[in-house]
Amino acid sequence: MVFALTGVSLHLLVHGETKPPTQDIRQMSEKTFYVTTPIYYVNDVPHIGHAYTTVAADALARYKRQRGFRVLFLTGTDEHGQKVEKAAEAAGLAPEAFASSVMVRFRELWERLNISNDDFLRTTEARHKKAATAFWEQVAETGDIYLGEYEDWYCTPCENFLTENQLDEKGRCPDCSRPVERLREESFFFRLSAYGEKVLAHIEQNPGFLGPEGKRREVLAFLREGLRDLSISRTTFSWGVPVPGSEEHVMYVWFEALINYLTAAGYPDQMEEKGFWPASVHIIGKDILRFHAVFWPAFLLSAGLALPKKVFAHGWWTVDGVKMSKSLGNIVDPLKIIDEYGVDAFRYFLLREVRFGHDGDFSIPALKARINSDLANDLGNLLSRTLAMVVKYRGGLVPAPVAEAERDDFEVKTRLRLMGLRETFESKMEALNFYDALFELWSIISEFNGYVERTAPWKEKDEDVLSNILYTLCEGMRIIALYTYPFMPESALKIWAALGMDSSPENADFETAAEWGGLRAGLKVERIAPLFPRVE
Ligand code: MSP
Repeated sequence: MVFALTGVSLHLLVHGETKPPTQDIRQMSEKTFYVTTPIYYVNDVPHIGHAYTTVAADALARYKRQRGFRVLFLTGTDEHGQKVEKAAEAAGLAPEAFASSVMVRFRELWERLNISNDDFLRTTEARHKKAATAFWEQVAETGDIYLGEYEDWYCTPCENFLTENQLDEKGRCPDCSRPVERLREESFFFRLSAYGEKVLAHIEQNPGFLGPEGKRREVLAFLREGLRDLSISRTTFSWGVPVPGSEEHVMYVWFEALINYLTAAGYPDQMEEKGFWPASVHIIGKDILRFHAVFWPAFLLSAGLALPKKVFAHGWWTVDGVKMSKSLGNIVDPLKIIDEYGVDAFRYFLLREVRFGHDGDFSIPALKARINSDLANDLGNLLSRTLAMVVKYRGGLVPAPVAEAERDDFEVKTRLRLMGLRETFESKMEALNFYDALFELWSIISEFNGYVERTAPWKEKDEDVLSNILYTLCEGMRIIALYTYPFMPESALKIWAALGMDSSPENADFETAAEWGGLRAGLKVERIAPLFPRVE
């Protein structure tokens, strides 16, 4: 342990300096991680679907920060395009004012959900217009953009161009089943057809690029059919970024929106300095897979830029078994859930109820069941019992373990179990398998509860044995909270505070903190109100 020095601390030792290391050295030794959510359309207020992607990205960002990565976690709002323009019109507002009014709803929700995004990008910001313009020019320079005429169908809710034979049997959008519009207008095209093979080869050669596996196969099948060139500008409305040199055109909203990932990484002139491109992972919903797994790589290849390391598509939530829709009036408002059940319970539910990458169903009974079993019974109960017993039997002070005393088998094995947890937990997190990461963690929580039942500390006559049990429980709680932190940051902080820790699971040095024995004897433990009260 003593010799596990990072590049920075080694540098300090060798040179015997006391001042902070220079910028260069810090950057050289840094591990970076760049995670993004889609930028959300402002035609509508946020719902559980938006909360889902953002909570997943937040858990990942917090997990990486805990492990010493310099993280850029980006989210934001997609404010241009015909769909937003129409929504503004319907609301009787100018698009700018309308976009701002909805954008704040997203910001507010992220605050309430404890989202730790490092940047919030609005596509109406000057930095993004600058990046979109520069990117267009860079692609145009390669000869991949040409002027033509678009004549076919368009789905405004999906902001998607469609051919006649892509429409469903009723002549509607195959993705959202809503009516489509006939377009006939002059348009710039991107030579997408020239990139099908290249994108295909990239996906085939990089199995980790696209997940989950089922979605990867879908995209490969789509690519094998060949691609037609993509219309990337519109002339019949003006709410967008003007095409450089042809200002009567605005950029197609998807072409422009995808560039947001570059904008936040410092494109066009600060990318190297920031050091975040290529992105580590774009987390998206399955409905916008093609834009991210086909169009986006093609645009980047054309511009000669590196491709993101991973694109991962999660599934969709239904509500009580039905598709969420405004007309059905069954849109789940995350703020209401947070008010009623608490932010951490909601965060936990989203990532534990459904395997990331699969579809799932949201219902209040399912949420309550998770809260009562996993949170109130398992985690909450373990914490309250631990705290109560330390207060009752040791005057609220963490006892020192007694090496000579007889030990329950569990105490010896816990160490190994927790070391093992680290490996399994991290391999699941790296695969964005939050479901199994939480499963592993909760199986340890159950083992701790079983240990309490078996050893029945309230009957223990041997004071040394009792000290060992109490120490094991407190130390177990500390490490469990360390792992719980990315998912339920607020609760993890509360657990550490209740154990008398003066550092936090957020910025403790993970290497040291994950080791058994880090909890000092003598810390002042306090009973706290139940973290997760049972709900009826
Ligand atoms: N603006 C585009 C994204 C541009 S990214 C360069 C967009 N915005 S959106 O607001 O319509 O959707 C954002 C995300 O919400 C998508 O990833 C979508 O999958 C997700 N969800 C919308 N409804 C959902 C559910 N019912 N369940 C889960 N996720 C859902 O698309």
